[in-house]
Amino acid sequence: MQTIRQSTLLREQLTALREAGGRIALVPTMGALHAGHLALVEAAKRLADHVVVSIFVNPRQFGPNEDLDQYPRRELADQRLLSEANVAVLWMPPVEEMYPQDFATTVSVAGITESHDGAARPGHFDGVATVVAKLFNQVRPDVALFGEKDYQQLAVIRRMTADLDFGIEIVGVPTQREDDGLALSSRNVYLADEDRAKAVALPRALGVAARDIARGGDVAAALAQARETLAKAGFEVDYVDVVREGTLEPHDLEQPSRLIAAARIGGTRLIDNLLIELK
Ligand code: PAJ
Repeated sequence: MQTIRQSTLLREQLTALREAGGRIALVPTMGALHAGHLALVEAAKRLADHVVVSIFVNPRQFGPNEDLDQYPRRELADQRLLSEANVAVLWMPPVEEMYPQDFATTVSVAGITESHDGAARPGHFDGVATVVAKLFNQVRPDVALFGEKDYQQLAVIRRMTADLDFGIEIVGVPTQREDDGLALSSRNVYLADEDRAKAVALPRALGVAARDIARGGDVAAALAQARETLAKAGFEVDYVDVVREGTLEPHDLEQPSRLIAAARIGGTRLIDNLLIELK
């Protein structure tokens, strides 16, 4: 595996890979890799001949009071994991390489970024869209993979990719979970033991609500129940909602729908979502 930190070298390496032939997959990450990220890499290997992983803790997607400084950085461990996974290129640009002093462009996706996490984290999705657009242009992959865990992010990337004619296939990968159901996340390291034990209430409450709704139960009642369960477990609920699969528009249970939630425990913000499997 080649670890590259300079865009001219990245271009050279990618030209060599393209000349070798075959498809190139990109897996964008912010590092502190876990089995969720590695599931993206494994899916990428099935879809392409060469896998490029990027690790970049993107300052533009963190709000002024968010965790940019504390965000876990584990360069050596990440490099080892990716090299063992047979990744061809690890693209790890320094901040100055991505955002030189005179950097002045923002990619902003309207509509889909305005609700849920977009409402709770102003500017977050502009930061995500801008960095992913840059990564797409730097790597020019055939296919790029994103986790369903960040469900709204996946939808934003799909919209941007279509709108800007990137011509890149976007693949969503199912959420990878701990044995007790908690979705894997680089931010789970922030959870104190006591909060980690309580955090399982999030996937459980979503599971109960998704099953209720799938069986024809009242949506508002199921959501109210989930919010109450989470509050009792010690969460401060940001949102629990049912939205239309793919677009996050108001749900219409005639069509595929998804239960999405964000809630804070002990200062750590967790997000999760489940497909509502209508019979
Ligand atoms: P990061 O949080 O590092 O996640 C990188 C990718 O891994 C994202 O596509 C995310 O959805 C996926 N992922 C995280 N946890 C997962 C899990 N438990 N199961 C499946 N996939 C999971 O998301 C970002 O970074 C950034 O916003 C990024 C897209 C890299 C732009 O900076």
